[in-house]
Amino acid sequence: MTTVLDVQRFKDEGRRFAMLTAYDFLSARILDEAGIPILLVGDSLGMVMLGHPTTLPVTMDDMLMHAKAVSRGARQALVVGDMPFMSYQVSTEAAIANAGRFIQEGGMHAVKLEGAGPVVEITRRLAEVGIPVMGHLGLTPQSVHTMGGFKVQGKTDAQAARILADAKALEEAGAFSLVLEGVPSKLAVEITHALRIPTIGIGAGPGTDGQVLVFHDMLGLTTGKAPKFVKRYANLAEEIARAATAYAEDVRTGAFPGPEHEYSTNGSAPAPSSGSTEEVRYGPPRDHGAGTP
Ligand code: KIV
Repeated sequence: MTTVLDVQRFKDEGRRFAMLTAYDFLSARILDEAGIPILLVGDSLGMVMLGHPTTLPVTMDDMLMHAKAVSRGARQALVVGDMPFMSYQVSTEAAIANAGRFIQEGGMHAVKLEGAGPVVEITRRLAEVGIPVMGHLGLTPQSVHTMGGFKVQGKTDAQAARILADAKALEEAGAFSLVLEGVPSKLAVEITHALRIPTIGIGAGPGTDGQVLVFHDMLGLTTGKAPKFVKRYANLAEEIARAATAYAEDVRTGAFPGPEHEYSTNGSAPAPSSGSTEEVRYGPPRDHGAGTP
């Protein structure tokens, strides 16, 4: 199983690594079996799974439901729970309690928090109580209203110096890794060289230790013009639409269900079976992927 020590080793050995978001059991299982070492249950789920315009409406309850599903699907990956807006800003006590819920109830191995300032002290306390923390600087979506939109951060010298200082403070407080989102590549390289802990970039160029993308963006489930930082490795939205249309057409013409999809009564000739099971059940075979919470 991947641990925070492995993630540090990746950097120490100069091995670039991938992180992906995961929000449900089946996709977590697929990504885990594909060897993705870190799965982030990101609060981006508010936008890609729940249809909110920002991540701000996402609650601890939302996050925990998805965290539990992901932890059931992942066996090898380090699973990281993203602390949602207002789950850590109110007090250090609330932050520890909510981070603890991610570990105890959600089956997560670590949590991610956005920003610095008071978050540095919260990071220190979480590290002290044994909860690994992934930091997140640059474009921090929970501060969308302060930033005046989802805008690249760290373009001026003053902003860049602030982000570098914040990165060093989070490392000093005990963060085990740092997401750098929406910053110029040059700044990401500077921070990556300045830190002992690994950086994980999204819209931060090729110079970070790891990269992260949102599952739905990477697979082309989100449609329209992709943001500049996204590379689509598949066009699943098109593929799903094609499959759905073919299914509806088969239903209309009577081509589905075919004899191989039917059950027979006792005594009558059995219909040819498409699979080995007579079980009437949805989803993956039973022996696969049953895990924690
Ligand atoms: O919520 C999220 O998915 C994230 C990643 C994009 C880093 O914070």
